[in-house]
Amino acid sequence: MAGYCRKLLSTALFLTFVSGTLLSKAFANSSDLEIGRDIFYKHCKACHGDKGNGKTFAANVLNPPPKNFTSEKTKKELTEERMIHSVTKGRKGTAMMPWESNLTEQEIRSVVHYIRKELMKILK
Ligand code: HEC
Repeated sequence: MAGYCRKLLSTALFLTFVSGTLLSKAFANSSDLEIGRDIFYKHCKACHGDKGNGKTFAANVLNPPPKNFTSEKTKKELTEERMIHSVTKGRKGTAMMPWESNLTEQEIRSVVHYIRKELMKILK
């Protein structure tokens, strides 16, 4: 009887452990995307638009205009590395300012991940 109880207990503990790790993994991914989305809505949407196509009121007065993340040309042109660099350091002579003093490296990665996945739709 004691042995049976111990076995039941250790199975329960094992299951708690496994589901705990799986769940925290799932949440880690979704929250990274959510963090990216929050940052985009807060800091980037005004120029790039909520769909990322650059059709915004601000775009009317910007030269060059914001990149249209949904065009095939941009999708080919923008590697993940280039995007991270441009967001970190900005694009000289354009309205795209450097974000390194406002966002952490991880936040910049998250917002680039959000753009690539949800707006450019080039990530699974
Ligand atoms: C004030 C308007 C403005 C805001 C706000 C803004 N951008 Fe931009 N962004 C631009 C413009 C303009 C360009 C085009 C620059 C160019 O043609 O070189 C651009 C280009 C880019 C590019 C492509 C750069 C490249 O290498 O060609 C990325 C990626 C980008 N923005 C991401 C972001 C992210 C992420 C944010 C928010 C954290 C943001 N932008 C906020 C105006 C803005």
